[in-house]
Amino acid sequence: MTDPKPSTNDILAKIRAKNAEAAAAEKPAAAAPSIEAPAPIGASAAEVKPAAPKGTGDILAAARAAAKPAGTADILAAIKKPAAAAPAVPAAGAPKSPADIMAAIRAKAGGTPAAASAAPAAVKPAAEVKAAAAPVGMSAADMIKAARSVAEGAPVLPKVVLPEKPLPAKTPAASSKAPAVQVERRSVVGAIIAFVLSPVFIAWSSFTTAFGAFGLGVARFMMPNVLVEPPTKFKIGPPNDYAPGTVSTKWQAQFNIWVVNGEVDGAQMIYALSTVCTHLGCTPNWLEGEQKFKCPCHGSGFYKNGVNFEGPAPRPLERVGIRLAEDGMLEVDKSVKFQKELGQWSNPSCFVGMT
Ligand code: FES
Repeated sequence: MTDPKPSTNDILAKIRAKNAEAAAAEKPAAAAPSIEAPAPIGASAAEVKPAAPKGTGDILAAARAAAKPAGTADILAAIKKPAAAAPAVPAAGAPKSPADIMAAIRAKAGGTPAAASAAPAAVKPAAEVKAAAAPVGMSAADMIKAARSVAEGAPVLPKVVLPEKPLPAKTPAASSKAPAVQVERRSVVGAIIAFVLSPVFIAWSSFTTAFGAFGLGVARFMMPNVLVEPPTKFKIGPPNDYAPGTVSTKWQAQFNIWVVNGEVDGAQMIYALSTVCTHLGCTPNWLEGEQKFKCPCHGSGFYKNGVNFEGPAPRPLERVGIRLAEDGMLEVDKSVKFQKELGQWSNPSCFVGMT
């Protein structure tokens, strides 16, 4: 092992120690310190003549002037020579950058094998690293990571690729059943559509429809026409619901009758008049203010008792049957008519006496 190369700080420290010793020996420093032989970088402190520099700057200036390096580059060039000759870094060769040189010098001065150990790692070929660490199928990122690990000295563990979870194998029945069902459904639907669109189906469906409509028409022709009409007999409540001297239009819309409680030939009675005008069959209106029935069609007028007195109506209004039922209600029967001109109003079936 060669002596580690002292750093600049070491050199300066030694120089300062020399100066301190000189000062201690009380050597006068009358003249300015002169450096007869410039101390090359890397020279030992014994080769430096004792001087009395006043500061670090003066010492460096004197050293640079004696060694004639023009600047830091020259100093570094001077440092590179012993560093390149040192066997501590046999494989790395001459440092290529100032940082490398300084790192090598510091490692050497500190006695650490950093430079010797870092150099092989730094110059280890990447191909070698890849060949050592990359198994077949390794990705680029893994190879870079492995190279870095090799360079840093960490063990490289090959990436374990776990096999993917195998998918459950389809059973032959399940895999072949669905397409078969689909094909079967498609074939069935296609057959139905083809049958519906076939001329035979269209012809038979049209014939069936026409024959059904004809049958329904025949059946309707065979059925009698039923005219739904209100019943001819119905009850209209007790006699007290009809005050004397009044005309009730309560049943005009429902049964086409007026119920009158009036005096006829000196007798108080309740009778029912038909709402059919004897002229052409219109429905007159009861005018309470005029106490008469007035037909809107041709102006025929009728008294409260139904006798016509104006307009084209040829005869009085007709009465319908009325009686007092067993339950005390008035019951009207429209199936029978009573005409005054025929002397039928005297029939007790067409009035209910109130006396
Ligand atoms: Fe009533 Fe002619 S129908 S007046």
